[in-house]
Amino acid sequence: MPSKAPIVSVNPQTLAQAAALLHAGQLCAFPTETVYGLGADATREEAVQRIYQLKGRPSNNPLIVHVPDVSSARQLVSSWSPQAERLAQRFWPGPLSLVLPRGPKIPAIVSAGLPTVALRVPSHPVALALLQTVQRPLAAPSANRSESVSPTTAQHVQRSLPDVPLILDGGPCQLGIESTVVDLTTQPVRLLRPGALPLRVLLEELPDLVLPSFAIEPAHGALPSPGMMTRHYAPSVPLYLFDQDDPDWVATLPKPCGLITHRDLPSLRALCQHIELLPSSPEAYATDLYAALHRLDDKQVRCIVALRPNQDNDWRAVLDRLERAATR
Ligand code: TXA
Ligand code: MG
Repeated sequence: MPSKAPIVSVNPQTLAQAAALLHAGQLCAFPTETVYGLGADATREEAVQRIYQLKGRPSNNPLIVHVPDVSSARQLVSSWSPQAERLAQRFWPGPLSLVLPRGPKIPAIVSAGLPTVALRVPSHPVALALLQTVQRPLAAPSANRSESVSPTTAQHVQRSLPDVPLILDGGPCQLGIESTVVDLTTQPVRLLRPGALPLRVLLEELPDLVLPSFAIEPAHGALPSPGMMTRHYAPSVPLYLFDQDDPDWVATLPKPCGLITHRDLPSLRALCQHIELLPSSPEAYATDLYAALHRLDDKQVRCIVALRPNQDNDWRAVLDRLERAATR
């Protein structure tokens, strides 16, 4: 029998247990408001190395560092601009990661050798309690095997990474999709990954924000963001995007077939054996998207079709995840 990572409920004892593991250079999975993270002491190279190994993550893909508050963030950068201060005051704790000049406390491995570091203060009470207990910045990517669907429950983590030493259970994540990543080291500043902080809200603070054209793949070197690595967030079976009610084409797909949609499409009901009807608001859709992909994986569908949402800013983060899940 393969080993199974222990899932524990959160109390002072399990927080102390998690902190002891992290102090010993080991890993621990914990909930955030976006997705579950796989944490390691960001100041220790060998601990961070374990994250890359366990996830099977390419070493050119940098990690996000989590801190409990703005003053801890300031200690990890070589310069903190008025713009960083303004964004941090407005959006932290919350689902925004800021890329800033990396200070000497963070080893290069965290950022895949880049001279920058991505920082965020998560708002989940368990993540904050863990950060307060450990008293170390935590490097934490999503707690899943590289390229697979991010976890929004402790059980998702256990299935994807059965060798994690400990999983703190904080229930399902409220936002369900990764943080928005913004690079403040270039002018004008750039959006690296659309995410849980709605673009509409971010644009109020950063009206000149440069939005990425979709899926730029750099020829070599560290990735500016895996938002730029084309395939990502993918379920274990092929996923196809479609633009409208298109039963002829869907009829040719292998069965059983799963459907993810935010509009009820009667003509597809008979052709798809497992239907995930998600909410029609982009934020609520995002909250349940990964969980729906995990549910369809559990039903052992042989393929998934997903209705492509609008190309407007409100749907940008969801569309980005769907396009990547559909890439192979
Ligand atoms: O919501 C989240 O951000 C979750 C939770 C656990 O906090 N974490 C997460 O981590 O999604 P990960 O490793 O799956 O994604 C990290 C993102 C990638 O897009 C990565 O390229 C970008 O952050 N990133 C990290 N450091 C960077 C840097 N120095 N420069 C540019 N992008 C960076
Ligand atoms: Mg990830």
